[in-house]
Amino acid sequence: MTATDTTHMSADWPADLLAQEFRGKRVLVTGSSRGIGAAVAAAFARLGARVAIHGRDGAALEAVAAGMGGGVVALAGDFADKAQTRGVVERAVERLGGLDVLVNNAGTMLGRVALADIEDGFLQRQFDLNAASAVVASRTALPALIASRGAIVNTGSISGRTGGSAGSSLYSAAKAFQASLARSLATELAPHGIRVNAVSPGTIDTDFHGRYSTPDKLAQTAARIPLKRLGTAEDCVGAYLFLASNRLAGYITGQTIEVNGGQLYN
Ligand SMILES: NC(=O)c1ccc[n+]([C@@H]2O[C@H](COP(=O)([O-])OP(=O)(O)OC[C@H]3O[C@@H](n4cnc5c(N)ncnc54)[C@H](OP(=O)(O)O)[C@@H]3O)[C@@H](O)[C@H]2O)c1
Repeated sequence: MTATDTTHMSADWPADLLAQEFRGKRVLVTGSSRGIGAAVAAAFARLGARVAIHGRDGAALEAVAAGMGGGVVALAGDFADKAQTRGVVERAVERLGGLDVLVNNAGTMLGRVALADIEDGFLQRQFDLNAASAVVASRTALPALIASRGAIVNTGSISGRTGGSAGSSLYSAAKAFQASLARSLATELAPHGIRVNAVSPGTIDTDFHGRYSTPDKLAQTAARIPLKRLGTAEDCVGAYLFLASNRLAGYITGQTIEVNGGQLYN
């Protein structure tokens, strides 16, 4: 390459690249009534995408959708229930007129329970919500994603790598499932032009920790994080937009992006 060779500069990177990428794109973000999912859905909406948000409380969701601007579709359903999961995705595809991006984000820990105390019903519910729902949602969305050559982004967790703290074994294993599922489906769906990746948040300051972590535990965690603070929902948004963008991440599939301030172990 000579000093006058500009082949390395030939890519056209428009100043409004993200808006060009997502304007008019049809996006379903599951678990977007609050927290990480709400931040991701709001960003897609701001960039001009046609967005469907999801949670369990229909009335609350309508208010969240209104706050994201006109045209955001609100769909309620319990993702521990496979029929409801299918119904939400079917309605999203119908209301949006297809689907370009599916973000499988719905989930929560459901409680810290030691192995000896894990009951069969709890085991089943953990698996249904935090692992199986992404399979059911992706399977239901598949015809629409094949038609659009779309993208799937799963939400994993740092606990999928570390195992999490005591009492979170099922949740953590289910989150590891999300990253593993993304890797497998990436290979399987590549012939359809569908990319499948995952975002693995670290300790993100959302309602989640209000329920499952004490302030002391969070302060200790923050002190161990190299960037010396907990993450925010907004900190996670860029990784989802990046992985959903064919322009930015068109040659990236089967990968997991860790968003954790440099925290590798808990
Ligand atoms: N916060 C963290 O530190 C962290 C770290 C790693 C991974 N994650 C993952 O990131 C995702 C979002 O978490 P977050 O921190 O934003 O938590 P959050 O504020 O508690 O939000 C969880 C979202 O999932 C939905 N959800 C929960 N249970 C559901 C169910 N049974 N059926 C349908 N939707 C359900 C919630 O909707 P409702 O309004 O119906 O409750 C809400 O929209 C989750 O998958 C979580 O496991 C979080």
